[in-house]
Amino acid sequence: MHAEKQKEMLERLRIHLANGTTDLSPYSLEVPASHYVSEEQAALEVKVMFRQRPLLVALTPQIPNQGDYLTHEVVNTSLLIVRDKYGLARAYINACRHRGARIAEGKGSKSSFSCPFHAWNWGLDGKIIARPNSHDGFSAGDDRYDQLAEVSCFETDGLIFVLLEGDDIESKVYELLGGALTDIANYNIEETRYIDSRTIELPCNYKFFIDGFAETYHIAPLHKNTISPYYYSTSTLTEQMGEVVHLVSPRKTIEKEFQKPEAEQGAILPYCTTEYILAPNVLLTHQVDHIQFWTVYPVEGANRCRVELNVFWPNPMDEDAERKAKLNVDLVWQVTTDEDFPQSVSIHSNLVSGALPNLIFGRNEPALISYHQNIAKAIGSDRLIPLYEDQDN
Ligand code: FES
Ligand SMILES: [Fe+2]
Repeated sequence: MHAEKQKEMLERLRIHLANGTTDLSPYSLEVPASHYVSEEQAALEVKVMFRQRPLLVALTPQIPNQGDYLTHEVVNTSLLIVRDKYGLARAYINACRHRGARIAEGKGSKSSFSCPFHAWNWGLDGKIIARPNSHDGFSAGDDRYDQLAEVSCFETDGLIFVLLEGDDIESKVYELLGGALTDIANYNIEETRYIDSRTIELPCNYKFFIDGFAETYHIAPLHKNTISPYYYSTSTLTEQMGEVVHLVSPRKTIEKEFQKPEAEQGAILPYCTTEYILAPNVLLTHQVDHIQFWTVYPVEGANRCRVELNVFWPNPMDEDAERKAKLNVDLVWQVTTDEDFPQSVSIHSNLVSGALPNLIFGRNEPALISYHQNIAKAIGSDRLIPLYEDQDN
């Protein structure tokens, strides 16, 4: 986020904190349980939002050098993301062209990929290098079997996107991100260092994971014994940028900035949690001095999801910074797994039971409202109902 925008946001935060106010949506939103538990809607979301839209699958520092790779599961499709010898990020279906075995697991660095099944060897460019001991048994196959199936991949400002279906990934990424890309470019993600990852499967709809980060209203009650003392959790800023929802939550340390002589004031990043929610499934957070990159995917329908956290730290790092960074991954993971995720799971089970036909998102939860309306718009759903105050009277 560039300096002028930080200054403008600092001023808005000063006013909110002084008056005990927050950014508000013009309406609250009624959300039916089916928005989370309908298998029909889940299938539509997978089709429209996961398969036909660019997805942010990795950040540049996860594969900084030639031969670096990682595997990434996207709605039942295993992808192999590789940096080729020209430095380009490329994405392949992680399936051998012989009989379909996965050619890579996890992450690492390799000059080529040897399929574990019959040892066909594949290059970083996705082309076949060798079919050992095959007695010319495949010479009748055409050249489709000489190349891994490749999917569109586009890298910009430290972000690596893929598009499973359709063309023109580059313009779709720009359209999706809108002005958020200028903000994100300012974080210099490509110059950070990848620290560590965590992953978990949860028995709930994937949208509940994003919901847990789309408002700070819950911080005081739910996190009262952990992070609450560090936040002013009832004053937040929210803006919609392209399809991205941007949420800024001030920490109590922001007082340090307010106490500076007025001419020196202007920074918010060291004192805030700044989140970019990329519908449907990504949360990119600048947290004081580092980056958290979260993804969540539906697993076999509406009722299960898989969450992954990746953490990145600014360079240069000494031993002390490395220790602090690793400790931070553990702490973030502990708070979310102990406190946030159990809420997601219990809400989901209440909705599946049929006990609650509807939920309500308040005007003081504008990022939550925008995120869900972005999804509803994309799939053509009219299930979410805005409620205006004057309609109640
Ligand atoms: S499936 Fe890969 S070599 Fe046979
Ligand atoms: Fe939380």
